[in-house]
Amino acid sequence: MKKIGVIGAGAMGAGIAQVAAQNGHQVVLSDTSQATLEKSKAKLEKVMNRLVEKGKITSEEASQIQARIQYTTELEDFAHADLVIEAIVERLDVKKSVFTALERIVKDDCLLASNTSSLSIASIAASCDLAHRVLGIHFFNPAPLMPLVEIIPAVQTSEEVLREAKELIDSWGKVSVITKDTPGFIVNRVARPFYGEALRIYEEGIADMPTIDWAMKTLGGFRMGPFELMDFIGNDINYAVTESVFQAFYNDPRYKPSFTQKRHAEAGWLGRKSGRGYYNYAEGSIMPEAIQDELLGQQVLERILAMLINEAADALFWNIASAKDIDLAMTKGVNYPKGLLKWADEIGLQKCVDKMDELYDLYREDRYRCSPLLRKKAAEKRLFYPA
Ligand code: NAI
Repeated sequence: MKKIGVIGAGAMGAGIAQVAAQNGHQVVLSDTSQATLEKSKAKLEKVMNRLVEKGKITSEEASQIQARIQYTTELEDFAHADLVIEAIVERLDVKKSVFTALERIVKDDCLLASNTSSLSIASIAASCDLAHRVLGIHFFNPAPLMPLVEIIPAVQTSEEVLREAKELIDSWGKVSVITKDTPGFIVNRVARPFYGEALRIYEEGIADMPTIDWAMKTLGGFRMGPFELMDFIGNDINYAVTESVFQAFYNDPRYKPSFTQKRHAEAGWLGRKSGRGYYNYAEGSIMPEAIQDELLGQQVLERILAMLINEAADALFWNIASAKDIDLAMTKGVNYPKGLLKWADEIGLQKCVDKMDELYDLYREDRYRCSPLLRKKAAEKRLFYPA
């Protein structure tokens, strides 16, 4: 593959174009907005200068990388592309019409990929005549720094196309995982309890936000606590992902959104980007202190971790991906300190089952149902990673 096309020069598209150019490809980067193209070109120059200053690349390499990217507003410039990755607005109707238009321009053997986080790849592929060449290639933000890429074959995607795409992404030094075309793929599905169960614990008054964050970081080893992380992602974005996963799973209570987060988003308390979220980021404001109670912290950690492990086990139960890929996705895509299935083996599967059953007995809600696979493996005294 020589020539890579990227449609959409926003946060994701610009990052993906950079990755492709750094790996020696000729790149065509398009956007409907000329101003966005200019912004992304200026931003790349800054990034390259910083890499030169840090001694990561020479100034000659920096110039070569920048020279490899052609900026355009014309779809016709994709005529010679071998792979085009789409990273435009997250709307199915808009994506479909772009894929239909694109197919009239590219070569018959050009691979077409979407970077969508939440839409079905099958429905995007259905907008193309040669649907077998369409697949999902899902990068994480920021694309040049985050190693994980989820590769999603649609029901229409051919084996050959999947293999070619995986080989290419691996050759870029990325960690690729293959996942089924289901809502949230791996990461945006398995990570839901990190936010959802933290919000629920807060809403029930079991612990306050700083204490929950403290428990997950200090006792659990997570890099950020759930509330800090939601403030970092943006409560509008994080809420929208949760709601879309919830609806896509036919209102499964496991993914039920929280009123606390909805109200924060409605209030404009989006997090760091608006200066206030669950915490106040205004200059001079004092961060609230956690109640550093080991016993309470341990309870919080065990509950959220059991929900995360249960979600990972259930993704494996439904063959969304292999155990190894589910664990890789969470460590390389969202920096979890350990793969969840590996963690389950270490804790003991029966202990995880007992925690889920304890929650289920208490609430009698489907939200807390234990995954059949977790229960079966525990009963058979087997592990996710047999020694
Ligand atoms: P963004 O809003 O920063 O950029 C989208 C760009 O697409 C804009 O510059 C817009 O002008 C351009 N655009 C819109 N319609 C177009 C068209 N018809 N032709 C050409 N360009 C067009 O969005 P962002 O965050 O980069 O997201 C892009 C895609 O990547 C979405 O599908 C999103 O779900 C997905 N994604 C986003 C992540 C994130 O953290 N922001 C992470 C992973 C995937």
